[in-house]
Amino acid sequence: MIIKPEISGVVARSAHPLGCEKAILEQIDYVKKASQIKQGPKRVLIVGASSGFGLAARIALTFGGSNADTIGVSFERGPSDKGVGSAGFYNDLYFKKYAETANRLAINIHADAFSPQTKKDVIEAIETYFEGEVDLIIYSVASGVRPNYQTGGQWRSTIKPIDEAVTGASISLEDDSWNESVLEAANQTEIDETLKVMGGDDWEAWIDALINSESIAQGCQTVAFSYIGPELTHPIYLDGTLGRAKVDLHQTSHSLNLKLVNFNGGAYASVCKALVTKASVFIPGLTPYLMALYQVMKQQGTHEGCIEQMQRLFSTKLYGVDKVPVDGERLIRIDELELDSNTQTQVRQLVESMNATNFSQLGDYEGLKREFMKMNGFSFDNIDYDSDIDLKQLIKTLS
Ligand code: NAI
Repeated sequence: MIIKPEISGVVARSAHPLGCEKAILEQIDYVKKASQIKQGPKRVLIVGASSGFGLAARIALTFGGSNADTIGVSFERGPSDKGVGSAGFYNDLYFKKYAETANRLAINIHADAFSPQTKKDVIEAIETYFEGEVDLIIYSVASGVRPNYQTGGQWRSTIKPIDEAVTGASISLEDDSWNESVLEAANQTEIDETLKVMGGDDWEAWIDALINSESIAQGCQTVAFSYIGPELTHPIYLDGTLGRAKVDLHQTSHSLNLKLVNFNGGAYASVCKALVTKASVFIPGLTPYLMALYQVMKQQGTHEGCIEQMQRLFSTKLYGVDKVPVDGERLIRIDELELDSNTQTQVRQLVESMNATNFSQLGDYEGLKREFMKMNGFSFDNIDYDSDIDLKQLIKTLS
C-alpha cells in the first residue's frame, strides 16, 4: 500500500514506517557523536518508551555511552482494518532491530502501563532478561485516560485552567489554521481526575511493585518528566490542571526518593523543555508559545529536541557526577536554556504580536509542522513516499 499522511486536527491518523526508521537512525547517530554517558545504568525499564522523551531516553541509554539493555512499555496501535497503526508501534520495532544489531537486549511490551497485570508481566520480564533487577526506571507516560481497574470505570485528564477561564489559540496541523478559543476553568472532578492520570500515583505504584518483588538493584534511580515553563504559559499549564498533576509528580519524587535511598538510589522529577510531541501539540493554547520558542532558540543556536535533552540529562546530571544537581525544590532542571531571560523576552514579544494572519511568519510554524510530520515518519528527504509498502511483510521481518 501507499501510505500518505492523515491528520485530524492535531492528531496523526497514519504513520510511515520507513520514516520512523529514519527518525530512530538520526537519533542514534546524534547520541553516538554526543558527549557520552559515563557510569550509566545497564538494565533499564522505560514506561512510555515508544515516542517523545521516553523513546529518546531509550536511544540515549542504549547508544549514547551506557550500552543499556532495555524493557520498554508502551500503548500503541499496530496495523488493522482501521489504519496503518501509530508511529510508536514502528518506533518500537525499529528500535529493537538496531539495538539487537548492536548486541543489546530490547524487549517491547505493548500493554496498559496503568494495569496491575502489566506490572506483573514486566516484573516477570525483569526476572527473565535482567536476572531479576533494574538499575533505572524512566516513567514517561502521557495519556488522556487511566482505567480504574477496581471499579471498571476510568479517569480522564483534562487540560484546563483553574479558577479563571483563559483565552488561547491552537493551530490545526490539518489545515494550518489558527483557532482562538476560551477554555473554561476546570471543576474539582476534572482537577482530581487529571491528577490521577498525569500525577505521581501510577509512578509510585510501579516503584512499589518493583520494591515488593525485590526487583530494585543497588543504586537504582528513577526519573519522571515534568514541565514548569515561563509565566507566559502558567495560566494554561503550571496554574492549570496539568500543573497540579506535575506538582503531585514532584511530591511523589520526594516520597519515592525516601524509599530508594534504602537501595543507595534516588528518585527525581526532571523538568524538561517544551517540545513538539504527540502529547504537547494537544495542549490548547501552547502552540503559539512553541512556535515562538522554536523561532528564538533556533536563531540563538540553543534549540534542543527530545534526544539532545535526554543525552544531556544522563551524561551531565544523572550519571558520572558525584551528586545529582537539583534546584531548591529537589528538581533536576534541563529547561534552563528555555527559561533564559533574554530568550523569554524575545519569545514574549513574538507571542504578543502573533495572530491568525502572521503566525507562520513570526513563529517557526514550518519547523514545528515539519517536526510533527517527522515524528510520524513523513517529510524526510530520500524516502520515496510513493513506494508500495507491504506492511505484513515488513512487520514479519522486524518481529
Ligand atoms: P509522547 O506522547 O510522545 O509519549 C508518551 C508515551 O506514553 C508513549 O510511549 C505512549 O505509548 C505511552 N503511553 C501512553 N499511554 C500509555 C498507557 N496507558 N500505557 C503504556 N504506555 C502509554 O509524550 P511526551 O511529550 O514524551 O511526554 C512524556 C512525559 O514528558 C509526560 O509526563 C509529559 O508531561 C512530559 N513532558 C513533556 C514535555 C513536552 O513538551 N513534550 C515537556 C516536559 C515534560
